[in-house]
Amino acid sequence: MVEFVKDGATGMEKVLLREPGGATAQIHLYGGHVTSWRNERGEELLFLSSKAIFKPPKAIRGGIPVCFPQFGGFGALEQHGFARNRMWAVDINPPPPPPFAGTGPNKPYIDLVLKPSDDELKIWPHNFELYQRVMIGFNGELTSIIRVRNTDTKPFTFTFALHTYLSVSDISEVRIEGLETLDFLDNLQEKERFTEQGDAITFDSEVDRIYLGTPTKIAIIDHDKKRTFVLKKEGLPDAVVWNPWEKKAKAMADFGDDEYKHMLCVEAAAVEKAITLKPGEEWKARQEISAVPSSYFSGQLDPCKVLNG
Ligand code: BG6
Repeated sequence: MVEFVKDGATGMEKVLLREPGGATAQIHLYGGHVTSWRNERGEELLFLSSKAIFKPPKAIRGGIPVCFPQFGGFGALEQHGFARNRMWAVDINPPPPPPFAGTGPNKPYIDLVLKPSDDELKIWPHNFELYQRVMIGFNGELTSIIRVRNTDTKPFTFTFALHTYLSVSDISEVRIEGLETLDFLDNLQEKERFTEQGDAITFDSEVDRIYLGTPTKIAIIDHDKKRTFVLKKEGLPDAVVWNPWEKKAKAMADFGDDEYKHMLCVEAAAVEKAITLKPGEEWKARQEISAVPSSYFSGQLDPCKVLNG
C-alpha cells in the first residue's frame, strides 16, 4: 500500500509505504528523506532525533538524509550538499530504461526525483536528475535505489552518501563487522589515513571515519536488542561511521544531549573516488538494509554467518 499524507505536526507532505506483512516506511518529500522504517511489530529501526527540525533550509536530523552532490566537506558546497534540504517531487513516470531489478508486484515503492531549480544552478551549475526509489520488501527490508543522470552539455563530478541513522539500544553494546583491517580517513584527524586494527568496531568515544573500499555487506550488531542490521550496498564503495558522542551531541541544536547513546550512522557512500558523468550518462547505486534477530543464524550471536551467508 502506498499512501500520500500531510504530516500533522509539520504540515509537510510524506509518503507511507506498508508491506502486506506489516513493515512500513515513511518518506518526506523534503529531502527525499526516509524518516521512519518499522518492522512488522511496529518497532522503529531508524533513529530520528526528538529535536529534529522539519523546516528548510535545515536537514532533518535522523532517518536517511541523501547527501548529494557533495559528501561532508569534500568540496566547496555546503556540508553534505543541498539535496537533503530541498523539496523533491513524486515521479509517476520515471524514465526508461525500466529502472531497477527486484521490484516485485506486491512490494510497495515510491519514486522521487530532484531536478535543479534556477537557485540550485547558481550554487552548482550542472543540470542533473537525481532519482530515488524507496521500497519495502517481503521481509521488511528497506531498499533505496539511486540514479543520477547528467542532463547537461558538460561532464560533472559529485560525491554521494545515504546518511543512514540506525536506532540502537545502547551504543556501548554495538559492534560493526565487515570493516576490520580496512583503511579509513579520520575526520577527527584532518582526514588522515589509518588502517583499522581491531577485530570489530566498538564505541566508547566520538567516531567519524570514512572506511574505504568496503565490502558489499556490513553487519551492525546490537547486543542488547539481540538484533543485527545487515546493510548491503552496490555502487557505494565507502562506508562512513559516525557517532558524535557526548560533547558534540550537546553542541547540536537539533539533537538531544543523550541521544548519541541510541543512534549510529553507517553511511553507504562514494567519497574517496568522486563520480564523473558525461552528458547523457547515468550512475546507479543501491542500498538494502534488513534487521534480523542476531540469534537467527545459529542460536547464538554469530555475525560472521551474517557476513558470509
Ligand atoms: C557525517 C560526517 O557523515 O555527518 C560528520 O562524517 C558530520 O563529520 C555528520 O558531523 C553530521 O553532519 P551534519 O551536517 O548532518 O551535522
